[in-house]
Amino acid sequence: MEFPFDFIAIVRKVNRAAALTGAGVSQESGLRTFRDAQTGLWAQYKPEELASPEAFARDPKLIWDWYAWRREGVKAVRPNLGHYALVEMAHRIPDFTLITQNVDGLHRLAGSPQVIELHGNIQRVRCAECGAIVEDWDDDNAAVPRCASCGGLLRPHVVWFGEPLPRAELESAMEAARNCQIFFSIGTSGVVQPAATLAYAAHNRGAVVVEINTEQTPLTAKADFFFQGKSGEILPELVKAVWNSETINGEQ
Ligand code: APR
Repeated sequence: MEFPFDFIAIVRKVNRAAALTGAGVSQESGLRTFRDAQTGLWAQYKPEELASPEAFARDPKLIWDWYAWRREGVKAVRPNLGHYALVEMAHRIPDFTLITQNVDGLHRLAGSPQVIELHGNIQRVRCAECGAIVEDWDDDNAAVPRCASCGGLLRPHVVWFGEPLPRAELESAMEAARNCQIFFSIGTSGVVQPAATLAYAAHNRGAVVVEINTEQTPLTAKADFFFQGKSGEILPELVKAVWNSETINGEQ
């Protein structure tokens, strides 16, 4: 990928950056994205049939089992070079805020110093009644496990359709978007609110908006730079072009 000179000059100089990632960033780790026509999880299921409080109320076992299956899938995969390049960017740019919609925890696993998880984390579970975070539960496969203190059903600690995002995380993400000089939107379709508004908030405050995606999205027309391709390839190339640094696969 040939990056324009003005782009490289901007990234070299910048003090405050924010990046929003979506399922595309984990695609090269082997996790399916949500909206890709052929392979996305949502191509088999309607999201509102599975990822909503109503669905859980209707059939808690189906939803619990679906998340247990996804949890196992996430455990089996590793971060890719895109995740590692974002770790490098956090070390190079003085104030770098990484915001993710992904619940897979791969940014933390790669070593990103601070990650705002807007949609929660699939490895965590909480009581649907009292809200207590539960570290250990008995997954005997016969029934949805229950909260040891109040007896309520346990559920994944993720944000479902129709549910509000965690307030502190959303506020921090919005603040980073409003204050950054450059905003990267990476591997996200940009159609799920309120995460999708972050790029526009940055744009409205004069930030340079950069999009990295295999496809065009509703944001592309507004982006100052659009780099089409896989984030696991483009991000390491960006790190190389800007700082002449190789992205290290943390596993090796
Ligand atoms: N590199 C870069 N982009 C990619 C790659 C890749 N290797 N593979 C796919 N993409 C792009 C797709 O073109 C698409 O625009 O990643 C995007 C994935 O979009 P979605 O599947 O809609 O995922 P996301 O934007 O993260 O979804 C947002 O919706 O239902 C939910 O809560 C869920 O957090 C999720 C939210």
